[in-house]
Amino acid sequence: MEISFFHKNLLGIEGLRVEEIRTILNATTAFKEISRREIKKVPTLRGKTIVNLFFEPSTRTRTSFELAAKRLSADTVSISSSTSSVVKGETLVDTARNLQAMHPDLIILRHSAAGAPHFLSRHIDVPIINAGDGAHEHPTQALLDLYTMEENVGDIRGKTIGIIGDIKHSRVARSNILSLVTMGAKVVVCGPPTLIPKGIEAMGVSVSFNLEEILSELDIVMMLRIQLERQERGLFPSLTEYSRFYGLNRHRLSRCKPGVLIMHPGPINRGIELDPDVADGSHSLILDQVENGLALRMVLLYILCGGKHDDS
Ligand code: CP
Repeated sequence: MEISFFHKNLLGIEGLRVEEIRTILNATTAFKEISRREIKKVPTLRGKTIVNLFFEPSTRTRTSFELAAKRLSADTVSISSSTSSVVKGETLVDTARNLQAMHPDLIILRHSAAGAPHFLSRHIDVPIINAGDGAHEHPTQALLDLYTMEENVGDIRGKTIGIIGDIKHSRVARSNILSLVTMGAKVVVCGPPTLIPKGIEAMGVSVSFNLEEILSELDIVMMLRIQLERQERGLFPSLTEYSRFYGLNRHRLSRCKPGVLIMHPGPINRGIELDPDVADGSHSLILDQVENGLALRMVLLYILCGGKHDDS
């Protein structure tokens, strides 16, 4: 397999070249097949050790990274903040240095602080994958989203993707904007003015505050979760009001292109940003995103545990 990936870590989509993104996407199909076998295990990373350091809740990303490592025969250890010495006051750097002393080959980090994986990468030598850092980036989500889009619509160049909802607090939105614009897609972000960062057009996207007006232009609609845990007060009047203007329901789906595809990174607030019949309907790619995420993370473990790199 020809691998063009030139970094020791995956800290964000920012800084990735088109050829690096293509390398990851191209390899994902081969790794996807492994999870559909009866015996879902290959010896690729036998003898390697991967530490999952999840200091924020997660279902999809954490399970996906754990299964990805196991299916490649790596040894894995999973640590959450509530069961680690962080609760006794240990710093992130001290935790990571202690883990490094046990010679892992890769650390996967989810943290509520933006920049935590970048900071850690300056203090330890072990390669790091950012599994979501605050409201900053979630690079593996954006890559699995891009793979899922191209699996369904072909080359993403020239396609129009709407990212709807809480853009301001969303690391998924930020990483998706970076990857989609890099790969030549058109991106429209849409939500209440209070949830769209000022100046976001500089990232190469257009902005709308009116979902009804843009629906007919979109090839793919990516709904975002309202992040109640990151909200300041008063950014919109109520969840009911938010849902009335920005929720995707059957009526709004009927105003989209006939073959429109619906995505959501999960977890879904059912009935708020997405009605259940749309989430579970024939246009939805939500569970394809999850399946593809496992395969894509297998690729990244393979590259970063064993691949060559020319920077740090
Ligand atoms: N999409 C995503 O990051 O989900 P989790 O928070 O469950 O990992």
